[in-house]
Amino acid sequence: MVYTQQEHATWRKLYESMLPQWDRCATPVFLSGVHKLALAPDHVPQLSEVNARLAPLTGFQAVEVPGYVPAVEFFSHLKSRRFPTVTSVRREDQLDYLPEPDIFHDVAGHVPMHTDPVFADALSSFGALAEELHNDEQVGGAIARFFWFTIEFGLMETDKGLRAYGSGLMSSFGELEYALHSPEVARCPFQLSQVIETPFEIDHFQKRLFVIEGFDQLYEAVNELRIQFAPLGLGQEKHQAST
Ligand SMILES: [Fe+2]
Repeated sequence: MVYTQQEHATWRKLYESMLPQWDRCATPVFLSGVHKLALAPDHVPQLSEVNARLAPLTGFQAVEVPGYVPAVEFFSHLKSRRFPTVTSVRREDQLDYLPEPDIFHDVAGHVPMHTDPVFADALSSFGALAEELHNDEQVGGAIARFFWFTIEFGLMETDKGLRAYGSGLMSSFGELEYALHSPEVARCPFQLSQVIETPFEIDHFQKRLFVIEGFDQLYEAVNELRIQFAPLGLGQEKHQAST
């Protein structure tokens, strides 16, 4: 993929504006992921470079897609440890908020998390479950809400205090600090039953977020979901990272 100087400049502005916030607000796993991927501050990365560092760690790969892909395809990719990745760069007038993914959201927001073995297991396991269930009328909404309040907007209690790991927060200059510090946001302990029943809206900052204690909890939550929907004929996944 060839990028213009303007696109490299947009990436640089985004990276420079987010880096100090990541230091203050991101979970250590995310910061370590940025380091492991050696994301460049001054130019848009090529997926081949990112994947050369990522794949040996967890088997995940970022695969290029033109934009939104159908849900079944998206979840199938996750199951197989492929993350559908948009490679276009947002316009300069969309630096802070973007209604659809771009490479900064996907590569700088999501992919650093895929360097962690437990998170990677949880995401892949979620993909397998979601691929089977997303079309079910009763369950599809629960699947979407789970993804939203964890992968996109999740918070985590760490030994450095409350931090964020959700990619929607990691790629938003305005919302990351807001999510952690604004008195307008309710930060609730992660309860699966609450998470899958909490509606979300995509066009404004989130007023209710959920806090996990670690990525093992996320993995177990996927298994809980699986068990909850066991009447639909699903079994339990084995946790690869701990074996
Ligand atoms: Fe995303």
